[in-house]
Amino acid sequence: MKKVGFGIIGAGMIARFHAQSMASLENVKLIGFFDTSLSAAVKCAEEFNCKAFSTFEEFLADSEIEAVTIATPSGFHHLSVIPAAKAKKHILCEKPLEITTEKCDELIACCRQNKVYLIPVFQTRFYPAIQKVQQAAKQGRFGKMLFASVRMHWYREQSYYDSSSWRGTWAVDGGGALMNQAIHHIDQLLWIAGDATSVSALSATRTHQIEVEDNLAALVQFKSGATGTIEVSTSCKPGFPRRLEFTGDCGSAVIEEDNIVRWVFDQTYPEDEAILSDLRAKNENAAGGSDPRNIKADGHALQIADLAKAIRSGHAPMLDAEEGRRTVEFICGVYNSVRTGKSHIF
Ligand SMILES: NC(=O)c1ccc[n+]([C@@H]2O[C@H](COP(=O)([O-])OP(=O)(O)OC[C@H]3O[C@@H](n4cnc5c(N)ncnc54)[C@H](O)[C@@H]3O)[C@@H](O)[C@H]2O)c1
Repeated sequence: MKKVGFGIIGAGMIARFHAQSMASLENVKLIGFFDTSLSAAVKCAEEFNCKAFSTFEEFLADSEIEAVTIATPSGFHHLSVIPAAKAKKHILCEKPLEITTEKCDELIACCRQNKVYLIPVFQTRFYPAIQKVQQAAKQGRFGKMLFASVRMHWYREQSYYDSSSWRGTWAVDGGGALMNQAIHHIDQLLWIAGDATSVSALSATRTHQIEVEDNLAALVQFKSGATGTIEVSTSCKPGFPRRLEFTGDCGSAVIEEDNIVRWVFDQTYPEDEAILSDLRAKNENAAGGSDPRNIKADGHALQIADLAKAIRSGHAPMLDAEEGRRTVEFICGVYNSVRTGKSHIF
């Protein structure tokens, strides 16, 4: 089957993970990069042996490019998604899809109108530990879900925020530890525990010279009746594994980074032993707890391969744009609670 031609928009830190992923895939061919900084595009093109486009128009007009990945600063995603959709390119867009629900709606409507896929990147959702816990929730193994919580005690140097002018700004990063770093864990929380009905939150900027929060805590009420807590930070030295906890009246599971560290259910299943032995002690996926570059490209590769398969076979991709929107809506609700000092009702 003919390989799907991809172009990458934005040639910064995460774009290299996209390019590495593409190089590892048989059904994908990387055609080239576009970046508003031509020198950034040229550097990546030389590294990955492909084209550097000097204008966006030229990039979009290249008929070999059937799909694009978007790796530009978060609040600029719409500047790439809308023209790419109008040029009939399928799109895999970095998280967050955009930084407001209104912008997400605009992108979703434009992609629908132009009949192209729009998929948000949530690469860590596909790691086996997360998949197994979500499956257990779907099977009802927790019984009545009581608590569903996220703890991300991470660390970022000031130099991380200083490395690009958009980082740590409301206008383009859209928020701090919650919108930028913890968004993956929020996506997983909502995927496993279901939608929230309300949230109350407090936040602060404690250890960095930035506009947005580097510490935030929230109390969540889920539709299911469960409650949850969220603690996220980029101030905690030296940075610890992220933790997701789900406790019900019939069972409980805890994930640390990509390992299952608790898996206890009233009703045992034949695969439980294998789940515990495979996912307990392994720590193959390095944590982003203290270094944003300390992630692997395998999750991105899975999502890029999935989009390529969807383009060729028409099967539904693993994630859709609504899931990207849902997480942004939740995060904006948390920020609204911080601003008003009241619970935000969804
Ligand atoms: N999935 C993950 O785990 C993960 C990790 C890191 C970053 N991200 C996301 O990836 C995106 C980029 O982050 P980064 O750390 O790579 O940023 P970065 O600052 O390193 O790179 C961004 C690049 O985009 C270019 N750019 C800016 N506006 C552009 C435009 N309109 N068109 C084309 N190029 C443009 C810049 O010149 C720069 O080279 C953000 O949305 C971020 O949240 C995701």
